[in-house]
Amino acid sequence: MEYSEVIKNARTCIGPYCQACSICNGTACKNTMPGPGAKGAGDLAARNYMKWQEVCINMDTICGQKTVLTELELFGRKFTSPFFAGPVGAVKLHYGDKYTDQEYNDILVSACAENGIAAFTGDGTDYNVMIEATKAIGKFNGMGIPTVKPWDLGTIREKMELVKKSGAFAVAMDIDAAGLPFLQNLNPPAGSKSVEELKEIVKMAEIPFILKGIMTPKAALKAKEAGVQGIVVSNHGGRVLDQCPATAEVLSSIVEAVKGDMTIFVDGGIRTGIDVFKALALGADAVLIARPFVTAVYGGEAEGVKAYINRINAELKDTMSMCGAFSLLEIQRDMIWS
Ligand SMILES: Cc1cc2nc3c(=O)[nH]c(=O)nc-3n(C[C@H](O)[C@H](O)[C@H](O)COP(=O)(O)O)c2cc1C
Repeated sequence: MEYSEVIKNARTCIGPYCQACSICNGTACKNTMPGPGAKGAGDLAARNYMKWQEVCINMDTICGQKTVLTELELFGRKFTSPFFAGPVGAVKLHYGDKYTDQEYNDILVSACAENGIAAFTGDGTDYNVMIEATKAIGKFNGMGIPTVKPWDLGTIREKMELVKKSGAFAVAMDIDAAGLPFLQNLNPPAGSKSVEELKEIVKMAEIPFILKGIMTPKAALKAKEAGVQGIVVSNHGGRVLDQCPATAEVLSSIVEAVKGDMTIFVDGGIRTGIDVFKALALGADAVLIARPFVTAVYGGEAEGVKAYINRINAELKDTMSMCGAFSLLEIQRDMIWS
């Protein structure tokens, strides 16, 4: 299946808020929430995308010819590529009736696992979402990362039990979900967590714990103090607070503060293998791509996901070979221009 066909199919079933654009750049959906857009004026998803486009590649083909390898090892697991499907919850609300979260996660987790990468799964007020997501991950030898919302500690403890039962190799928490309206004013209260609370959550997890929603070196250092094993530099695709910088704008300063201490992921507007290359050149260990995987599932289910993964991987390999980087470790800062 060609990716263009995936997009064409998605347009017939994904509405009404998502236009399944050929380039998912945050413009057509802008401030649609519900929908896949961004909060407030809705500019941040587009800014995320644009700031990667401003980074250019420094081509250099005076080098030997070798096979390009994109394999990556993280938390004791091997992956064919340094990109992961990002968590997307409440797909019925945001993308129409075609799939429940359970159906969406089943397709995404299995298709990613079959193609050598892993999917992060989302969480929601419906308890079944986490139950079914962890079941899907369990079926694929723990090849997936459940992303737990920052509920109260009692609820987190319950959800961590589901995570552990699934054999997931890591677990994440979108700490920035504090900005989602449905998480506010809950009783017991959900949302932001102190370093002390995070230390307790890390202990509960017992597997590598990734904190998603880090946008400053200061927050990265707090995550480090809490003992987390990974961070995702993310502004939640602009969905939790308007007028933040793009992730491409803050990545370098965060890398400078904590590189080597924790695994650094980044997301937000990464759409091609060239963008993946730029993120790695800026110091990320791996990236998450969220919205385009939704289009891939709606437009072609497992085949759509496979087509998208193959496309990103081919673009990444092409960029690496054009810069003389034959493994991910050989991707260096001087291979980009910004
Ligand atoms: C409709 C929608 C639902 C999302 N749900 C979640 C979620 O449940 N958990 C989470 O951590 N992030 C969630 N995100 C944020 C994404 O994981 C990701 O951080 C963001 O979309 C930026 O990546 P992208 O530009 O590649 O989409 C959601 C994003 C969208 C558009």
